Amino acid sequence: MKPSPRPSVQQLAPYVPGRPIEDVEREFGIAGAVKLASNENPLGPSPKAVAAALAVTPAVNLYPDGSATFLRRALSQRYEIPAEQIVIGNGSSELIDICTRTFVDPGDEVVVPAGIFRMFPVAAGRAGASYVEVPTKAGYVPDVDALLRRIGPATKLVALANPNNPTGAYLTRADLGRLFAGLPGHVVAVVDEAYFEFGHETPDYPDALDELRAGRNVVVLRTFSKVYGLAGLRIGYAFSTPDIAAAMNKVREPFNTTTVAQTAAIAALTDDEHRERTIALVRQERAFLAGELEKRGAVVNPSLGNFLLVELPIPFGPLEPEFARRGVILRPMGGWGFPLAFRISVGLHVENLRFLAAFDELLRAGRLGLGPGAALSAG
Ligand SMILES: Cc1ncc(COP(=O)(O)O)c(C=O)c1O
Repeated sequence: MKPSPRPSVQQLAPYVPGRPIEDVEREFGIAGAVKLASNENPLGPSPKAVAAALAVTPAVNLYPDGSATFLRRALSQRYEIPAEQIVIGNGSSELIDICTRTFVDPGDEVVVPAGIFRMFPVAAGRAGASYVEVPTKAGYVPDVDALLRRIGPATKLVALANPNNPTGAYLTRADLGRLFAGLPGHVVAVVDEAYFEFGHETPDYPDALDELRAGRNVVVLRTFSKVYGLAGLRIGYAFSTPDIAAAMNKVREPFNTTTVAQTAAIAALTDDEHRERTIALVRQERAFLAGELEKRGAVVNPSLGNFLLVELPIPFGPLEPEFARRGVILRPMGGWGFPLAFRISVGLHVENLRFLAAFDELLRAGRLGLGPGAALSAG
């Protein structure tokens, strides 16, 4: 006899993160590898956030403020949502887990568009939920009508990542409005806007806070990991109704975020320059990468995030170590339901050129399943 995990845990497919740089450098005996695998900020953290984090470090003998009072106040002022409607998490990943555990009992349904960010199936699996993936439309765009048709009495939660990682696809304002208009009252909608700031200027890209302001049962998730460059500090935030936020706070660990992370996040929020520089870099380099990859014959999905989902004619899995040994860490998407695809995070121009050089080497060697005429050198 040996201890056996709960059946839902036995069935759980673990979340596989991007490979750390040190790991790849050790395996292949190389130096200076670039990581384009986890949609991090290529410009680094906000310098204001780093200074604030360092300044507060001498006080880490004390427990953090479990309610993250000052951070919630800063977010409340910036977004004009009352502080009691804001929940702070150890990354938005934790908030996905918290809102799932807040609403979903074993057997309850979680309904999502196919190909949604992988933390949703992981959280649903941990909760023992019945996880329902609804096929998407062309371009991996969530199908609102199909989602609404699939939602029933057993559905507790419907989730959407807007834009989605890894597809980069997004639901327009009109479609998001239609989804909310059709949602039954017993269902909570989670709209994960981890990449919100990158899509912000796209005219029909919605802000799900408008749905919250309109009184919907929505949890809007945002993070400091992407545009603010604080992925290593693990801090994200949720906006919801007062009732939902209060329930999520009951489920949350009392000290789930650190003093250092809370303080850095407050400083990062005020660093408009770093945020704008990040957005501008991502826009420019995303277009550059997409153009170069398309010239080489790869299928590049349009993306509102700081990443691209790129499809080849052959499975990408075996190619991942080929890029890694050339010092370029990419994310294979087979485990996410896209066996021919890899996801590349938009890096600095030099990092993107480094990736293209590795791509061209493999292309010329006939390893990518693309026609020989596709070989070009990067501009
Ligand atoms: C759509 C989406 N949501 C949430 C997250 C989690 O971010 P974090 O837990 O670092 O806030 C990510 C990270 O890649 C993401 O792509």
